[in-house]
Amino acid sequence: WGKEGHIMVCKIAEKYLSEKASAAVQALLPESAGGELSTMCPWADQVRWHYHWASPLHYANTPEVCNFKYSRDCHNSRGEKGMCVVGAINNYTEQLYNYGKKTSYNLTESLMFLAHFVGDVHQPLHVGFAEDEGGNTIVVHWYRRKTNLHHVWDVSIIDTAIKDFYNKSMDTMVEALKMNLTGGWSDDITHWENCKNKRSTCANDYAIESIHYSCNYAYKDVEQDITLGDDYFFTRYPVVEKRLAQAGIRLALILNRIFDGDEADG
Ligand code: ADE
Ligand code: ZN
Ligand code: ZN
Repeated sequence: WGKEGHIMVCKIAEKYLSEKASAAVQALLPESAGGELSTMCPWADQVRWHYHWASPLHYANTPEVCNFKYSRDCHNSRGEKGMCVVGAINNYTEQLYNYGKKTSYNLTESLMFLAHFVGDVHQPLHVGFAEDEGGNTIVVHWYRRKTNLHHVWDVSIIDTAIKDFYNKSMDTMVEALKMNLTGGWSDDITHWENCKNKRSTCANDYAIESIHYSCNYAYKDVEQDITLGDDYFFTRYPVVEKRLAQAGIRLALILNRIFDGDEADG
Protein backbone atom coordinates (compact mmCIF):
# COMPACT_ATOMS: atom_id res chain seq x y z
CA TRP A 1 0.00 0.00 0.00
CA GLY A 2 0.91 3.65 -0.23
CA LYS A 3 1.04 5.99 2.74
CA GLU A 4 -2.73 6.31 3.08
CA GLY A 5 -3.36 2.56 2.94
CA HIS A 6 -0.86 1.92 5.72
CA ILE A 7 -2.25 4.70 7.89
CA MET A 8 -5.81 3.38 7.48
CA VAL A 9 -4.81 -0.20 8.37
CA CYS A 10 -3.16 1.01 11.55
CA LYS A 11 -6.00 3.36 12.51
CA ILE A 12 -8.32 0.35 12.38
CA ALA A 13 -5.86 -1.80 14.36
CA GLU A 14 -5.54 0.87 17.09
CA LYS A 15 -9.27 0.65 17.73
CA TYR A 16 -9.06 -3.12 18.35
CA LEU A 17 -5.99 -3.17 20.64
CA SER A 18 -6.40 -4.48 24.17
CA GLU A 19 -5.40 -2.20 27.06
CA LYS A 20 -2.16 -4.07 27.61
CA ALA A 21 -1.25 -4.07 23.93
CA SER A 22 -2.09 -0.41 23.63
CA ALA A 23 0.15 0.42 26.60
CA ALA A 24 3.05 -1.62 25.18
CA VAL A 25 2.66 0.03 21.77
CA GLN A 26 2.67 3.48 23.42
CA ALA A 27 5.83 2.57 25.32
CA LEU A 28 7.61 1.38 22.16
CA LEU A 29 6.60 4.19 19.81
CA PRO A 30 9.14 6.95 19.22
CA GLU A 31 8.33 10.41 20.63
CA SER A 32 7.63 11.68 17.11
CA ALA A 33 4.63 9.33 16.76
CA GLY A 34 2.55 11.48 19.11
CA GLY A 35 1.18 8.32 20.72
CA GLU A 36 -0.38 7.07 17.48
CA LEU A 37 0.81 3.86 15.85
CA SER A 38 -0.76 4.90 12.54
CA THR A 39 1.68 7.78 12.05
CA MET A 40 4.59 5.29 12.03
CA CYS A 41 3.04 2.67 9.73
CA PRO A 42 4.41 4.14 6.46
CA TRP A 43 7.92 4.32 8.01
CA ALA A 44 9.23 1.08 6.44
CA ASP A 45 8.73 2.58 2.97
CA GLN A 46 10.53 5.78 3.90
CA VAL A 47 13.64 3.78 4.89
CA ARG A 48 13.34 1.31 2.00
CA TRP A 49 16.47 2.59 0.26
CA HIS A 50 18.43 3.11 3.44
CA TYR A 51 17.61 -0.39 4.82
CA HIS A 52 17.93 -1.93 1.41
CA TRP A 53 18.23 -5.49 2.78
CA ALA A 54 14.61 -5.00 3.91
CA SER A 55 13.30 -4.21 0.44
CA PRO A 56 12.28 -7.83 -0.38
CA LEU A 57 10.48 -8.03 2.98
CA HIS A 58 7.57 -5.99 1.59
CA TYR A 59 6.34 -8.75 -0.75
CA ALA A 60 6.54 -12.36 -1.97
CA ASN A 61 6.14 -13.48 -5.57
CA THR A 62 5.18 -16.77 -7.20
CA PRO A 63 6.39 -18.24 -10.51
CA GLU A 64 3.17 -17.18 -12.32
CA VAL A 65 0.98 -19.60 -10.38
CA CYS A 66 -2.10 -18.76 -8.30
CA ASN A 67 -0.89 -20.42 -5.12
CA PHE A 68 1.70 -19.46 -2.54
CA LYS A 69 4.21 -21.93 -1.11
CA TYR A 70 6.54 -20.64 1.59
CA SER A 71 9.37 -23.05 0.76
CA ARG A 72 9.24 -22.11 -2.93
CA ASP A 73 8.32 -18.41 -2.79
CA CYS A 74 9.68 -16.89 0.43
CA HIS A 75 13.22 -15.79 -0.40
CA ASN A 76 15.13 -12.74 -1.64
CA SER A 77 16.92 -12.50 -5.00
CA ARG A 78 19.96 -14.24 -3.50
CA GLY A 79 17.80 -17.20 -2.51
CA GLU A 80 17.99 -16.56 1.25
CA LYS A 81 15.03 -18.32 2.93
CA GLY A 82 12.48 -16.35 4.90
CA MET A 83 13.40 -13.04 3.23
CA CYS A 84 9.84 -12.15 2.16
CA VAL A 85 6.80 -10.51 3.70
CA VAL A 86 5.59 -13.72 5.39
CA GLY A 87 8.98 -14.49 6.92
CA ALA A 88 9.31 -10.86 8.03
CA ILE A 89 5.95 -10.87 9.86
CA ASN A 90 6.86 -14.06 11.71
CA ASN A 91 10.35 -12.82 12.51
CA TYR A 92 9.31 -9.39 13.87
CA THR A 93 6.50 -11.02 15.85
CA GLU A 94 9.02 -13.40 17.44
CA GLN A 95 11.29 -10.44 18.29
CA LEU A 96 8.44 -8.58 19.98
CA TYR A 97 7.82 -11.51 22.34
CA ASN A 98 11.01 -10.25 24.05
CA TYR A 99 9.13 -7.16 25.22
CA GLY A 100 9.78 -6.67 28.92
CA LYS A 101 12.87 -8.89 28.81
CA LYS A 102 16.47 -7.96 28.29
CA THR A 103 17.05 -8.05 24.52
CA SER A 104 19.42 -6.69 21.90
CA TYR A 105 16.60 -6.20 19.38
CA ASN A 106 15.39 -2.69 18.67
CA LEU A 107 11.75 -3.44 19.45
CA THR A 108 10.63 0.01 18.31
CA GLU A 109 11.78 -0.89 14.81
CA SER A 110 10.35 -4.42 15.15
CA LEU A 111 6.93 -2.91 15.89
CA MET A 112 7.10 -0.40 13.04
CA PHE A 113 8.18 -3.10 10.56
CA LEU A 114 5.53 -5.55 11.77
CA ALA A 115 2.69 -3.00 11.52
CA HIS A 116 3.78 -2.12 7.99
CA PHE A 117 4.25 -5.68 6.70
CA VAL A 118 0.90 -6.94 8.04
CA GLY A 119 -0.58 -4.17 5.87
CA ASP A 120 1.50 -5.16 2.85
CA VAL A 121 0.71 -8.90 2.96
CA HIS A 122 -2.95 -7.93 2.54
CA GLN A 123 -2.30 -5.89 -0.63
CA PRO A 124 -3.11 -8.59 -3.20
CA LEU A 125 -0.27 -7.69 -5.58
CA HIS A 126 2.31 -7.85 -2.79
CA VAL A 127 1.82 -11.57 -3.39
CA GLY A 128 1.88 -11.54 -7.17
CA PHE A 129 3.96 -12.93 -10.00
CA ALA A 130 7.76 -12.58 -10.01
CA GLU A 131 7.67 -12.21 -13.80
CA ASP A 132 5.94 -8.80 -13.64
CA GLU A 133 7.15 -7.81 -10.15
CA GLY A 134 3.66 -7.88 -8.69
CA GLY A 135 2.26 -5.75 -11.52
CA ASN A 136 5.03 -3.13 -11.40
CA THR A 137 6.04 -3.80 -15.01
CA ILE A 138 2.44 -3.82 -16.32
CA VAL A 139 1.84 -0.32 -17.72
CA VAL A 140 -1.81 0.78 -17.54
CA HIS A 141 -3.84 3.96 -17.69
CA TRP A 142 -5.86 4.72 -14.58
CA TYR A 143 -8.62 6.72 -16.23
CA ARG A 144 -6.45 9.16 -18.20
CA ARG A 145 -3.25 8.91 -16.22
CA LYS A 146 -0.38 6.60 -17.10
CA THR A 147 0.79 4.38 -14.23
CA ASN A 148 1.31 0.67 -13.52
CA LEU A 149 -0.96 -2.06 -12.17
CA HIS A 150 0.89 -2.33 -8.87
CA HIS A 151 0.49 1.38 -8.20
CA VAL A 152 -3.22 1.17 -9.04
CA TRP A 153 -3.63 -1.26 -6.11
CA ASP A 154 -1.19 0.49 -3.74
CA VAL A 155 -2.60 3.98 -4.28
CA SER A 156 -4.96 4.79 -7.17
CA ILE A 157 -8.06 2.79 -6.18
CA ILE A 158 -7.85 4.24 -2.65
CA ASP A 159 -7.28 7.80 -3.96
CA THR A 160 -10.24 7.57 -6.32
CA ALA A 161 -12.48 6.26 -3.54
CA ILE A 162 -11.40 9.01 -1.12
CA LYS A 163 -12.06 11.62 -3.79
CA ASP A 164 -15.35 10.25 -5.15
CA PHE A 165 -16.97 8.67 -2.08
CA TYR A 166 -15.48 10.34 0.97
CA ASN A 167 -15.29 14.02 0.26
CA LYS A 168 -11.50 13.90 -0.22
CA SER A 169 -11.05 12.86 3.42
CA MET A 170 -9.09 9.76 4.42
CA ASP A 171 -10.53 10.04 7.93
CA THR A 172 -14.06 9.78 6.53
CA MET A 173 -13.03 6.61 4.70
CA VAL A 174 -11.56 5.14 7.90
CA GLU A 175 -14.80 5.93 9.74
CA ALA A 176 -16.76 4.16 6.99
CA LEU A 177 -14.52 1.08 7.29
CA LYS A 178 -14.93 1.07 11.08
CA MET A 179 -18.71 1.33 10.63
CA ASN A 180 -18.64 -1.69 8.29
CA LEU A 181 -16.69 -3.61 10.92
CA THR A 182 -19.42 -3.05 13.51
CA GLY A 183 -22.18 -3.56 10.90
CA GLY A 184 -22.06 -5.66 7.74
CA TRP A 185 -18.70 -7.28 8.48
CA SER A 186 -19.24 -7.95 12.20
CA ASP A 187 -19.98 -11.64 11.61
CA ASP A 188 -16.90 -12.01 9.40
CA ILE A 189 -14.41 -10.78 12.00
CA THR A 190 -14.27 -14.11 13.87
CA HIS A 191 -13.37 -15.84 10.58
CA TRP A 192 -10.72 -13.23 9.81
CA GLU A 193 -9.27 -13.75 13.29
CA ASN A 194 -9.27 -17.52 13.01
CA CYS A 195 -5.61 -18.38 13.48
CA LYS A 196 -4.69 -21.65 15.16
CA ASN A 197 -0.95 -20.95 15.26
CA LYS A 198 -0.46 -19.88 18.84
CA ARG A 199 2.97 -18.33 18.96
CA SER A 200 3.64 -17.77 15.25
CA THR A 201 1.26 -15.82 13.01
CA CYS A 202 -1.06 -16.83 10.16
CA ALA A 203 0.80 -14.62 7.66
CA ASN A 204 1.14 -17.65 5.37
CA ASP A 205 -2.66 -17.87 5.11
CA TYR A 206 -2.93 -14.13 4.40
CA ALA A 207 -0.40 -14.51 1.55
CA ILE A 208 -2.45 -17.38 0.09
CA GLU A 209 -5.55 -15.15 0.18
CA SER A 210 -3.62 -12.37 -1.54
CA ILE A 211 -2.40 -14.45 -4.49
CA HIS A 212 -6.00 -15.62 -4.98
CA TYR A 213 -7.22 -12.01 -5.06
CA SER A 214 -4.37 -11.15 -7.43
CA CYS A 215 -5.45 -13.84 -9.89
CA ASN A 216 -9.21 -13.34 -9.56
CA TYR A 217 -9.30 -9.53 -9.37
CA ALA A 218 -6.02 -7.63 -9.83
CA TYR A 219 -4.60 -9.40 -12.91
CA LYS A 220 -7.97 -10.50 -14.28
CA ASP A 221 -8.67 -9.08 -17.79
CA VAL A 222 -5.62 -6.79 -17.57
CA GLU A 223 -2.98 -6.53 -20.29
CA GLN A 224 -0.16 -4.13 -21.14
CA ASP A 225 -1.30 -0.58 -22.02
CA ILE A 226 -4.94 -1.20 -21.15
CA THR A 227 -7.09 1.63 -19.81
CA LEU A 228 -8.73 0.90 -16.46
CA GLY A 229 -11.74 3.00 -15.47
CA ASP A 230 -15.17 2.68 -13.87
CA ASP A 231 -15.67 -1.03 -14.64
CA TYR A 232 -12.42 -1.98 -12.97
CA PHE A 233 -12.82 0.50 -10.12
CA PHE A 234 -16.33 -0.53 -9.10
CA THR A 235 -15.57 -4.27 -9.18
CA ARG A 236 -12.17 -4.08 -7.42
CA TYR A 237 -12.83 -1.36 -4.86
CA PRO A 238 -14.78 -3.73 -2.53
CA VAL A 239 -11.73 -6.01 -2.43
CA VAL A 240 -9.47 -3.12 -1.44
CA GLU A 241 -11.85 -2.07 1.37
CA LYS A 242 -12.04 -5.59 2.71
CA ARG A 243 -8.28 -6.13 2.62
CA LEU A 244 -7.61 -2.87 4.49
CA ALA A 245 -10.11 -3.87 7.18
CA GLN A 246 -8.77 -7.42 7.46
CA ALA A 247 -5.23 -6.13 7.80
CA GLY A 248 -6.26 -3.82 10.64
CA ILE A 249 -8.14 -6.56 12.51
CA ARG A 250 -5.29 -9.05 12.10
CA LEU A 251 -2.58 -6.58 13.12
CA ALA A 252 -4.54 -5.97 16.33
CA LEU A 253 -4.88 -9.74 16.82
CA ILE A 254 -1.13 -10.28 16.49
CA LEU A 255 -0.27 -7.40 18.84
CA ASN A 256 -2.89 -8.48 21.41
CA ARG A 257 -1.46 -12.01 21.44
CA ILE A 258 2.08 -10.72 21.87
CA PHE A 259 1.38 -8.24 24.65
CA ASP A 260 -1.47 -9.95 26.52
CA GLY A 261 0.72 -12.94 27.33
CA ASP A 262 0.56 -16.51 26.07
CA GLU A 263 -2.81 -17.41 27.60
CA ALA A 264 -4.82 -14.70 25.90
CA ASP A 265 -6.26 -15.22 22.47
CA GLY A 266 -6.74 -11.59 21.45
N1 ADE B 1 9.05 -5.75 -6.33
C1 ADE B 1 9.08 -6.95 -6.93
N2 ADE B 1 7.93 -7.64 -6.71
C2 ADE B 1 7.16 -6.83 -5.94
C3 ADE B 1 5.88 -6.98 -5.37
N3 ADE B 1 5.14 -8.09 -5.54
N4 ADE B 1 5.40 -5.97 -4.63
C4 ADE B 1 6.15 -4.87 -4.45
N5 ADE B 1 7.36 -4.67 -4.95
C5 ADE B 1 7.87 -5.65 -5.70
ZN1 ZN C 1 3.28 -1.91 -3.14
ZN1 ZN D 1 5.72 -1.71 1.93
